[in-house]
Amino acid sequence: MFSDISLTDDKPLYIQIRDYIKQMILKGLLSQGQKLPSTRELCNTIGVSRNTIILAYEYLEDEGFVQIIKGRGTFVSDITIDYQDEWNMDWTSRLTPYAHLANQLDIVKHESRWQKGMISFKSIAPDDKLFDLDDFKRAFLDRFSLEGEKLLNYGYAQGYKPLIDYLMGYMENKGVKTQGKDILVTNGFTEGFDMVLSALTEPGDHILCENPTHNTAVKIMKLHGLEIVGVDMEDDGIDLDKLQEALSNNPVSMGFLIPSYHNPTGIVMSPEKRVEVLNTFARHRVPLIEDGFNEELRYSGSHLSPLAALCGRGNSIIYIGSLSKVLFPGLRIGWILGDSHLISQLESIKRSRNIHSSFLDQAILYEYLAAGNLEKYLKKARRIYREKYDYALECAQRYIPCKKILGEGGLHIFIELDHNLNARKVLDECIRQNVIFMPGDIFYIHGKGANTFRLGFARCTPEEIRQGFKIIGDVIRGLE
Ligand SMILES: Cc1ncc(COP(=O)(O)O)c(C=O)c1O
Repeated sequence: MFSDISLTDDKPLYIQIRDYIKQMILKGLLSQGQKLPSTRELCNTIGVSRNTIILAYEYLEDEGFVQIIKGRGTFVSDITIDYQDEWNMDWTSRLTPYAHLANQLDIVKHESRWQKGMISFKSIAPDDKLFDLDDFKRAFLDRFSLEGEKLLNYGYAQGYKPLIDYLMGYMENKGVKTQGKDILVTNGFTEGFDMVLSALTEPGDHILCENPTHNTAVKIMKLHGLEIVGVDMEDDGIDLDKLQEALSNNPVSMGFLIPSYHNPTGIVMSPEKRVEVLNTFARHRVPLIEDGFNEELRYSGSHLSPLAALCGRGNSIIYIGSLSKVLFPGLRIGWILGDSHLISQLESIKRSRNIHSSFLDQAILYEYLAAGNLEKYLKKARRIYREKYDYALECAQRYIPCKKILGEGGLHIFIELDHNLNARKVLDECIRQNVIFMPGDIFYIHGKGANTFRLGFARCTPEEIRQGFKIIGDVIRGLE
């Protein structure tokens, strides 16, 4: 005993020795009242300093595992754990329909996974090689030295005030009139969307969106028990006639649109269409949630106003922003901009769910943004992504026989095959040849999109794009 302890250098030695003795007590290998070796003895057995053993024993005493009696030694305390091994639950049978549905809709679990050695076009996550770590480290150190203690304590549900002010200015620069509006910081778009639906919809309500649309949004809408009214898209955004028809024929209470670099199609809604869409929703008095996640990844064309800007002083648009594609998805920071009374209600929902988003993360992000790093980063990222986008488009045109290639920017393109070709069959064969992508049907409502797929290219090298697209093209030709 004790001589078999294997110490590593990734943790302080006193903690490893404390944990070793704790485990022996918990397993019953050291029993109540048993005397532990003296600190002098044990330090010789293990080959560490005596102070290390003294510290380990003190921590064991603090946690009630041993008792140190001056002049007599260290003794194991009474740690009897009456294990009730027989009490097991069948958790699956107790799961709610919500939990079952969340599991069923979890594409990370159910779709084919990337394996080492594969070329992957599955994700539309940004390329982390572009992240400027030095600027981020500087932002961390600067902000932490200013308000370190505060940032580690509880903060405010609405968010870190300097970040809220920064985001307000950021939205004003997009042309949004912010009078009478406010911002709530969220854990990305995903939490923002979930909270807005919690506040404004009830199971059975009808929500209208583009068909296809962001898979996570579909999942959340289904988990809220909503009836999803999907409206087909044209090359410049949602089909206006079908939108008009859908709004006339269904009791729609909310709309959800991704006007810029739509996921999965990459379509950008034209400026004229934006105005018409807004007017159509206004005529039917249906408010809109706008997802502005990708707006900054514009590589060509003129400035595009978000719907939230076009609605002027009106308060019918709830804009959800996210820095997950433009900057760092791992920070999980997004925001909701909307009518200030509504934001106040959402703030209470946020507080009831998770109190607030990490203040440390918000504060570092604020410092990073306020120092002008976003503009600097975007200049670089846009150039590199644009090159990849141009090359991906060129390779898709050269190698992939298809009906349509969609996508005007962002981090992905979308392929529509001839209608009798099944993208999942293409995917199965591609996986055999070490290439993986996202089948399009997961983005569609009412079981459409079997002949479509999405190709994310942000993290691929030009050679991977060329090789991978060629394999996909060859597989399609083989199936035709
Ligand atoms: C349409 C759309 N909106 C928003 C996001 C970002 O979500 P989040 O901010 O939760 O990471 C994504 C990410 O893929 C997306 O595709």
